Amino acid sequence: MAKYDIDALMRNVDNLPSLSPIVTRIISLSEDEECSIDDLVAAISQEPGFTSKVLRLANSAFFGYARQISRVERAVIILGIDSIRNIGLGMAVSSFLKDKKQPFFEALLNIWEESLRVADCAREMSRLNKCTYSDDVFIAGLLHDIGKIALIKSFPTFYEKINKIIEDKSISQFAAEKRVLQFTHPELGIKLAENWNFPEPILYAIKYHHTPYRIQKTESLPVLNIIIPKYICLARLATHPKRAHRKMSLFTRLCFELSIEPEKIATILETQEERLIILKEVFSPVNQ
Ligand SMILES: [Fe+2]
Repeated sequence: MAKYDIDALMRNVDNLPSLSPIVTRIISLSEDEECSIDDLVAAISQEPGFTSKVLRLANSAFFGYARQISRVERAVIILGIDSIRNIGLGMAVSSFLKDKKQPFFEALLNIWEESLRVADCAREMSRLNKCTYSDDVFIAGLLHDIGKIALIKSFPTFYEKINKIIEDKSISQFAAEKRVLQFTHPELGIKLAENWNFPEPILYAIKYHHTPYRIQKTESLPVLNIIIPKYICLARLATHPKRAHRKMSLFTRLCFELSIEPEKIATILETQEERLIILKEVFSPVNQ
């Protein structure tokens, strides 16, 4: 196992993405109960790009508001610290995809666009259920496949090998990853997300976005850790009709468990393109 051991691989590569100091600072502020609006504004203001995205979102209907806000302080109060942290995380990860000359750039963009669709669909489903944690659902959707992004970015030759095996042997992505690397992209994603101190529900979404039924339910496990991966898994199936067809029993089971009617999902998808316009503007790598 030594050759492709996940920890050894992560220690030995120097091109694994890292978070910018400003995002690291915002994550730690979001966990600090003493954090004030001024602290947050000071952190955000260090990066004009971040400031403009915060204002753009605060002024959009996306977060449920459509008004004229020109001051960061006001935007921070309106969006709240969790939303600001989520914008930072989303922007940070999308910035890893900026370099158009990197290997498999198109594949990276496709994964990112798919993640935007999943994030939007999962968020809309959770809003239908009047969940108070829709922002967490959204960011979990945006980041759930970070392991795949890291796999392509850091181990492009392995990624090529994995694709070849999928094509030649008609096996699943998971099986091919196991064969080539002895670990899967959710396992790689969780390692990265732990290093970056991502909030726990996002860690669970990364780990279980293909297999939410594998979460061990213990009394001490917060409900968000169990439910958010289910939203992400259902959104992945819903935004990919072939996938939903292949895994119809999982699709039906998740709809039942989350109390979502399939017809409502169809309505969400019908109106998705409109919402994607602003999402792409804020989170797309080309706009960084
Ligand atoms: Fe995945």
